[in-house]
Amino acid sequence: MYLRQNKKMLLISALPFVCILLATRVYSLENGLARTPPMGWMTWQRFRCITDCGTFPNDCISENLVKRTVDALVRDGFKDAGYEYVIIDDCWPEMKRSGEGLLIPDKIRFPNGMKALGDYIHSNGLKFGIYQDYGTKTCAGYPGIIGYEELDANLFASWGVDYVKLDGCYADPKTMDEGYVAFGQLLNKTGRPMVYSCSWPVYQEGNGIDPNFTLIAKHCNLWRNWDDIDDSWSSLASIANYFAENESRIQQFAGPGHWNDPDMLIIGNFGLSLEQSKVQMALWAVLAAPLIMSNDLDAIRPEYREILLNREIININQDSLGIQGVRRKVINNIEIWARPILPKNNDFYSFAVAYVSHRTDGAPFKIQFNLTEIGLTNSHGYVELDVFEDVISSTIKYPDTLLSVIVNPTGCVLHKFIAF
Ligand SMILES: *[C@@H]1O[C@H](CO)[C@@H](O)[C@H](O)[C@H]1NC(C)=O
Ligand SMILES: *[C@@H]1O[C@H](CO)[C@@H](O)[C@H](O)[C@H]1NC(C)=O
Ligand SMILES: *[C@@H]1O[C@H](CO)[C@@H](O)[C@H](O)[C@H]1NC(C)=O
Ligand SMILES: *[C@@H]1O[C@H](CO)[C@@H](O)[C@H](O)[C@H]1NC(C)=O
Repeated sequence: MYLRQNKKMLLISALPFVCILLATRVYSLENGLARTPPMGWMTWQRFRCITDCGTFPNDCISENLVKRTVDALVRDGFKDAGYEYVIIDDCWPEMKRSGEGLLIPDKIRFPNGMKALGDYIHSNGLKFGIYQDYGTKTCAGYPGIIGYEELDANLFASWGVDYVKLDGCYADPKTMDEGYVAFGQLLNKTGRPMVYSCSWPVYQEGNGIDPNFTLIAKHCNLWRNWDDIDDSWSSLASIANYFAENESRIQQFAGPGHWNDPDMLIIGNFGLSLEQSKVQMALWAVLAAPLIMSNDLDAIRPEYREILLNREIININQDSLGIQGVRRKVINNIEIWARPILPKNNDFYSFAVAYVSHRTDGAPFKIQFNLTEIGLTNSHGYVELDVFEDVISSTIKYPDTLLSVIVNPTGCVLHKFIAF
């Protein structure tokens, strides 16, 4: 099967443009999952590898943390808004496999095991995700999959897992093109549909290997491109910068079933202001990024929760075309990012446009431009919706209308331009 596909690629290699289209449209992972960017919650960014439940009873990686988060997802409207996958990141197993080579969930922190926890998640209408590592060890030093690939894939299926994140510590990035593909095939062989989240390209980028995104998009539902997100504006800004500077290499590989992943939403934690939180939500929507929160849903303040639950932004993120937005222009250190979305009218797409300020001079700043300059050229014009303010403009905006937008320092404005 593999060989046959390679031959096809050779036959059409004389038509590079068609080749790119086919590469992304035809040869992508078709397990029926992640038709829109996955949404959910994951332990890592906020809870890391806290295993000391004596000192941190509410925060340690445990059944208790997962269950209280499931309860909050249901209670506070996150589930209704689309947040679906509940994903346990690193530090869940015992340090040693069983005599038969099986992974054992930490006996103190997961006293009822993973099958029971999966059942709890499913009984609340949510889906169950888990972490492993393509290597001899996970990043935190727990057992990795090397030598146990089939056992682990089958074990996850038997627990009712719906989503597997496969990290890439303690592994040779040169072997990932084969190893990640092989593990994906083992997941497929279990017969249980599982979203496959790969950290494959980020380890290759970091080691001077140009990732083969054609191959990655064919075998993974989503993949991490760049550094882990930390709880800070500078971390967020550097990831956004990677997506802008590398858009010509990565943008075309995003689409239904296969997504670039700029990492978790950190909204509601310690590091982002309210304005900066709006930036992350708006940018992740424009980038068609997975919306996987990592935060404490029992401690999150209402104004941050409101950002995460903003239906209009979630609709932009989940737009069924699945086109990843790009940075179209930078004016006075304010970036203009645009993403084509539905509805389409007169052959013109509607657009989500985020204006993201990297200014730190303290005062809101006004930029002026027209829509032609950022690629919105529908001569019938657009209806403009200010998404955070929930205000529709009273006049139609034409491609040559001079627009003024005022953006707060390290803040953003998000507009939806609906093609008329
Ligand atoms: C396995 O792969 C085949 C071929 O791509 C696909 O049709 C099927 O849905 C996949 N099954 C699972 C369980 O992922
Ligand atoms: C990347 O992967 C595709 C799909 O398997 C393959 O056809 C192509 O030759 C690979 N490109 C490189 C540079 O290896
Ligand atoms: C990708 O992004 C990184 C980080 O912003 C940058 O250093 C690098 O030059 C970019 N690569 C390309 C090919 O643009
Ligand atoms: C729109 O912007 C472009 C590029 O700056 C400019 O050439 C054009 O004259 C502008 N149109 C109007 C009507 O201002």
